[in-house]
Amino acid sequence: MPGRLIDGNVVSSSIRSRLTNRITKLKEKGISPCLATILVGNDPASAIYVQNKQKAAKQVGLIAQDHRLKDDLQQNELTILIDSLNNDSSVHGILVQLPLPKHINEFEIINKISPSKDVDGLTSINSGLLLHNEASLKPCTPSGIVELLDFYNIGIMSQNVIIVNRSILVGKPLALLMLERDATVTICHSKSVNLNRLLLQADIIITAVGDRSKFILKSEMVKDKAVVIDVGTNRQSGKLVGDVDFESVIEKASWITPVPGGVGPMTIAMLLSNTVTAAQNSVSPV
Ligand code: GUN
Repeated sequence: MPGRLIDGNVVSSSIRSRLTNRITKLKEKGISPCLATILVGNDPASAIYVQNKQKAAKQVGLIAQDHRLKDDLQQNELTILIDSLNNDSSVHGILVQLPLPKHINEFEIINKISPSKDVDGLTSINSGLLLHNEASLKPCTPSGIVELLDFYNIGIMSQNVIIVNRSILVGKPLALLMLERDATVTICHSKSVNLNRLLLQADIIITAVGDRSKFILKSEMVKDKAVVIDVGTNRQSGKLVGDVDFESVIEKASWITPVPGGVGPMTIAMLLSNTVTAAQNSVSPV
């Protein structure tokens, strides 16, 4: 029997409809939750991501500010904008779309964002709180993946989870969230040896490579009845595909996410949720 589909569109719309209630209650108290996105340069993929975030924010009733800057800007132009958004009490969430141009120091920019408005959960303060399981604003893709597994009652405790990604956006925070749920976690990356042997031991595989010339998850790398979560985004002849050879892996897996329509909508839903949480925290601080 082929694996069952984990539908990110279904789960994200249930999250978004709950958000609408929280937003209505905040508006009754005179607070209009507002997300400010910042896009530097004109990378087409980043522009589409930001456009989708803007659209989804407006759809649930958030105010969405769309800041766009040229890619030859100076670091201090970006920090001035972030400072002004930090000091603007009508803005509750700030998202700087990554990656930034090479001449910009990403670490410094992320840490310019006030931790209480850091709806990506990437500042040093919020990642430190995540280590202690005390974070109110958690990185969106990792928390979206946990929501997906919980929605379908897919157990995490005591499972061998393998994550093929070590970034600050996905792999590292996801490993912490999985550890918090009592999984046994392995992070793999381009220098890992015997990747196929490790993958074959995994009960849950989460892959976020995003380059099919370097990595494709094939059915012979997947244990029978494993859960497969595909975070990869690759453009193939104008079509969006993941890291997973979906047609063959679905025959082996117990559960699998499609691309598109799997993790992607969850990243956006969690961003909206973090923005509402940040707005709530601004009236009753954590
Ligand atoms: N680039 C790709 N994914 C993300 C994300 O979740 N947040 C930000 N800020 N940039 C990204």
